[in-house]
Amino acid sequence: KCTAVESRLLQYLYQFLPRTSSPSLPGPPGLFLIGNMMELTHDHLPIHLTNLAQRYGNIYRLKCGHTTMVVLNSTDIIREALVKKWSDFAGRPGSYTGDIVSGGGHTISLGDYNEEWRAHRRLVHSALQRCCQQSLHDVIERQALQLRKVLMDYQGRAVDLSEDFTVAASNVITTLAFGKEYDKSSSELQQLHSCLNEIVALWGSTWISALDSFPLLRKLPNPVFSRLLKEVVKRDEIIRKHLNNYKSQDKINVDAITGSLLQGLEKQQNTEHTEVLLTDIHVHMATVDLLIGGTETTAAWLNWTVAFLLHRPEVQTRVHEELCTVLEGRYPTYSDRHRLPVLCSLIHEVLRLRPVAPLAVPHRAIRDSSIAGYFIPKNTVIIPNLFGAHHDPTIWTDPYSFKPERFLEGGGGSTRALIPFGGGARLCLGESVAKMELFLFTAYLLRDFQFIPPESEASLPDLKGVASVVLKVSPSQF
Ligand code: HEM
Repeated sequence: KCTAVESRLLQYLYQFLPRTSSPSLPGPPGLFLIGNMMELTHDHLPIHLTNLAQRYGNIYRLKCGHTTMVVLNSTDIIREALVKKWSDFAGRPGSYTGDIVSGGGHTISLGDYNEEWRAHRRLVHSALQRCCQQSLHDVIERQALQLRKVLMDYQGRAVDLSEDFTVAASNVITTLAFGKEYDKSSSELQQLHSCLNEIVALWGSTWISALDSFPLLRKLPNPVFSRLLKEVVKRDEIIRKHLNNYKSQDKINVDAITGSLLQGLEKQQNTEHTEVLLTDIHVHMATVDLLIGGTETTAAWLNWTVAFLLHRPEVQTRVHEELCTVLEGRYPTYSDRHRLPVLCSLIHEVLRLRPVAPLAVPHRAIRDSSIAGYFIPKNTVIIPNLFGAHHDPTIWTDPYSFKPERFLEGGGGSTRALIPFGGGARLCLGESVAKMELFLFTAYLLRDFQFIPPESEASLPDLKGVASVVLKVSPSQF
């Protein structure tokens, strides 16, 4: 046992120990200059990084130009970095292209950890909380009923539902943000979606990420990058128009997030001792965050649910029977979730197999630290491989199989090992919105519809999907 003085002394001496006393991180050998860049060009990066974990372990490093990335592949290791040592790893790596899509780092999702970011996140978090308490359930219920009507109108025809799911998820966010919902045929809505979709897809492409690691490439013509710039300008015009319309209303509705944010700004500007001054740019970029974060993710998850259910129709039948027995004909409410274990097991299993943000968003070490006993120097980029953690064979039996029953009593699966929303200071800002949406949309859909493949087994959807920032199902018809 050592005294407080001795332990202080040991701590003091520890900082002078050579860093090599910590084992060096394993990782694949790299090529001269480009390092492990080629590892990042695989068409399904989450699967590739998970396969590398089989060879190099649950924590390994990749080098890309001058950047060192550390990939974390188990829930425990990810929690150690994101939750236990959140204050060491709450940063975001700055990047040339990230700065462009985030209006100079002013989004919550890509902004680095500092006082301004903290004030911004606090402002948006409390606006979202307030708005969720007042209207979230009603807003989702209305969209679920609207989605039901759209599906009824198909009268059993084979259709690709992805657009309908996107409209439903997007309408939840636009109603929360602006108090406004759209019709599927609205040109404004289509413009907004195509532009947000393009930005997410283009930004995830190798042509764009190469510009971050190799500045010389920025001097060469790059049509993909030109498209990205055009889409960002378009996005900003659409959002600016919305915000201006909103502000021009006689009375600002503070029940909607935008109103609450604008009111928050006003309050803050009237406070004398604020160290950080948030402005309209922060409201603008928070809207971008909510629209991007809240539309494609939820829609992709709904598509995955239908795709998996087509492969195991008996699960669909079990959920339907549970809904009929428990609800006795009425529509579900969020408080019913405790009485619907089969439905919840389905939600958890889809989140496990297809965490829709499979590599979360990269983190940055804001100071020297360690993970799993390895020394991690300041500025190392941390990739939480959520997909890998959800397929960790030491935690999940038969990790690649769709088995919702693993989450039912005696099934052996634990929701504690799930980490689809990340954790710590950067925990998904929309986690509670997403959870309620996943529950209510799925319950409404499976109460009234049965999803079947159009013709034969041959037309069952491919379950590998397409991985970019968001992990999506390849388009198909149900
Ligand atoms: C961040 C997952 C829905 C808004 C994230 C992150 C993940 C995630 C993994 C990154 C966490 C990290 O960096 O460690 C999901 C999943 C969703 C979902 C699985 C649905 C199934 C939503 C919704 C919204 C939203 C509905 C908005 C209402 C955000 C924002 C961030 C974020 C703003 C950035 C947080 C920050 O950097 O501080 N989400 N999300 N997400 N999400 Fe979500």
